[in-house]
Amino acid sequence: MKAHIVLLPGDGIGPEVVAAAQRVLEAVGRLRGHSWTFSTKLIGGVALHKKLPALPDDTLTAALSADAVLLGAVGDPAFDKSPPSSRPESALLKVRRELGVFANLRPARSWPGLEESGPLKREVFAGTDLIVVRELLGGLYYGEPRGTDARSGAVVNTMCYTRPEVERVAHVAFKLAQKRRRQLVSVDKANVLEVSQFWRTVVTDVGRSYPDVALSHQLVDSCAMKLALAPASFDVVLTENMFGDILSDEAGAVCGSLGLLPSASLGPGPGLFEPVHGSAPDIAGQSKANPIGAIGSAAMLLSDGLGLNDEGAMIVQAIERTLATGLRTPDIMSAGCRAATTDQFTDSLIAEMGQ
Ligand code: IPM
Ligand code: MG
Repeated sequence: MKAHIVLLPGDGIGPEVVAAAQRVLEAVGRLRGHSWTFSTKLIGGVALHKKLPALPDDTLTAALSADAVLLGAVGDPAFDKSPPSSRPESALLKVRRELGVFANLRPARSWPGLEESGPLKREVFAGTDLIVVRELLGGLYYGEPRGTDARSGAVVNTMCYTRPEVERVAHVAFKLAQKRRRQLVSVDKANVLEVSQFWRTVVTDVGRSYPDVALSHQLVDSCAMKLALAPASFDVVLTENMFGDILSDEAGAVCGSLGLLPSASLGPGPGLFEPVHGSAPDIAGQSKANPIGAIGSAAMLLSDGLGLNDEGAMIVQAIERTLATGLRTPDIMSAGCRAATTDQFTDSLIAEMGQ
């Protein structure tokens, strides 16, 4: 297959982990006879530092005409005092909206050998294999009105969902559940919020078309607790934008490191693939970043973005085999393991893939 992949390394550790993921994609291309072309574009703080918008026009144009987009991270403390609309993060929200990627898939799992790198006891965490389906284009992130009300001075964000917005992401979650363990937990705050009551009604309606999937509803606070107490009890977790943002970071912590989590954001056009972690400016440029989230996102790019399931699985197996050799980046280091830089881990993973 031929495909054009747009790389958006962004800020902080973004360039290091995207370089790692690109090398893995190139290796898969060589091994399986695919031909990828890449172009690299600016996004986030690196664009703002060049006096460009956080999402320059040519970045957006390239992303829209790509077969898939791989993003590193956006966020730079230099812009901490800027209003949300001119921060690096605004570029990510805009590119998600322009690509129409409404369904954000964030798998979180227990990797063999990493059962004890998180805060949970082995017996609680072992066997965890869940996926958060986060609605990505609605809710508080995009709702209007927003900002300061000129008359009262009050500051407003709005959580708003339409029926089609909930239906389309619910269908993605139910279809995914059908391919997995057929358990879907829909997360809301229906004891307080009208928008959550509506979410619950629409998800229940959509569920009638999927009688083989067991649907249950959880309040977000109680779900956050269960995620820490019994993560292995979850299969597919469907939720709105902000709750999904929070629960996916929690899922990362439960797994031992946010650096482990990949994601795929899907819509009608090219998908956007990015690790769940942020730009981690404190470790940027030191080859300390865990590349597994970005490499896992490259695997999702192949399987969920380009339909190359075998190639995606090949990367996931290489991650498992590399972890089995005992190599660890600092975030998941434990007794008896060997320290690896971002590049050393990636080199070893590529060698594993070739075997
Ligand atoms: C994420 C991030 C983003 C989000 C930020 C950087 C805008 O936290 O992808 O989870 O909130 O969606
Ligand atoms: Mg987040």
